[in-house]
Amino acid sequence: MSRLSLDLTGMMEAGVGHAGIHEAELAQLATSAADAVEQTLALRRAGTIGFLDLPDDTATARSCMDYARELPAEVDTMVVLGIGGSSLGPQSLYAALTPAYDIARPRSPGMPRRLLFPDNSDPETFRALLDTVDPARTVWNVVTKSGSTAETAAQLMVVADRFARDRIVVTTDPEAGALRALANDLDLRAFAIPANVGGRFSVFTPVGLLPAAVAGLDVMGLCDGARAMRDRVLTTEVRANPALMLASLLHLHAGARKRPMVVMMPYADALYSLGDWFRQLWGESLGKSGRGSTPIVSRGATDQHSQLQLYADGPDDKVYVFVAPAERGADIEIPGGELAGIDAYGYLAGRRMGELIDAELRGTIASLRSRGRPHCTITLPRVDAPSVGAFAMLWQAATAFAGPLFGVPPFDQPGVEQAKRLTYAALGRDGYEDEARSLKDAPPPDPRYQL
Ligand code: PA5
Repeated sequence: MSRLSLDLTGMMEAGVGHAGIHEAELAQLATSAADAVEQTLALRRAGTIGFLDLPDDTATARSCMDYARELPAEVDTMVVLGIGGSSLGPQSLYAALTPAYDIARPRSPGMPRRLLFPDNSDPETFRALLDTVDPARTVWNVVTKSGSTAETAAQLMVVADRFARDRIVVTTDPEAGALRALANDLDLRAFAIPANVGGRFSVFTPVGLLPAAVAGLDVMGLCDGARAMRDRVLTTEVRANPALMLASLLHLHAGARKRPMVVMMPYADALYSLGDWFRQLWGESLGKSGRGSTPIVSRGATDQHSQLQLYADGPDDKVYVFVAPAERGADIEIPGGELAGIDAYGYLAGRRMGELIDAELRGTIASLRSRGRPHCTITLPRVDAPSVGAFAMLWQAATAFAGPLFGVPPFDQPGVEQAKRLTYAALGRDGYEDEARSLKDAPPPDPRYQL
């Protein structure tokens, strides 16, 4: 299996001159970096965090595949009801590993099933979804670790009111929470998210693997890739550990070099959703106590015509992570013909569109390099399950190691929890009276600022 590779030269002095990190800075960080790995491994040994061990749990992967196999043949759609870490993981796997526009393809018997992710609590979207799906062909996967997130709870209540219970499968905590209790009471089919795995680290639990299995993705390949990467990121030796290198360099650029933003820019549409997944993982894990770095997702080559001016010539406050496959799948040859005689088009004749997007990536990198803007490239051998699994494990480990480097605990999300409590309070849920009072704390509207 050829493996995912990183080129970090552009983050270093060797790649972008004085804008890059010096060898001495990296050497100075080596002890803290090693400590970051040790702290993560200590949490793993204590059983506090479980994400590093998920790829070994082939029994769970198989149970997800069994569920998919046993679904009635007429079911061609799974709707995943979840938000945040309970949705972004499976969304990114589905987007990466199925052809573009998969949801629009007419389903015929034997075709892989499609996945739909309403994700948000926007009533118009949800109404449209209810009007679109055929209940006889649909299963509903309700995903919430806590069991009580308001957006997912509301969707569950609508769905439970309209559709047969045997069309609902839940993914939640093994013991705790309202959804586990409900599943037990109603005898709903249920999968477990291990208690020591939080939402944004749950892509290799049934949160990600169940929808992946239902969509016919290569679940074992995902786990194989994740396992192979996991085995690369356990060393405390920074140069041998790709996740630790990423965490260290992003930390140095964010802190000492005052570049507190990281732009992930995949040059393949299939990989774009992994950027959205990364955005949550990095932002929610590290954005604490006034620290962290702000993740941004950008689409190559599209955003060359939208953001690149800013990236190359605007404030020097960002680092850039390009993501691309070495080998593209379906490609299209650009024909010669009549248009090839036109000077503005002739150079494209006989080339592949894959060559074009690769050339654009090279051009963007050259443009950033010429301005001394730090950047790096992650290359997947191809967009397949092992590479995507490896990519997801790489960033989960990098985020875990970045926590101690930034001086924040990466596995909690107090800001998200506060927002959940305020939502409960705003809707009058008992037990949230303090939050209800704080909702009323807002100063009255100031006429000077009302237009
Ligand atoms: O990463 C996290 O913990 C959060 O983003 C959660 O995934 C998100 O808030 C949804 O929570 P739950 O799965 O409990 O519904």
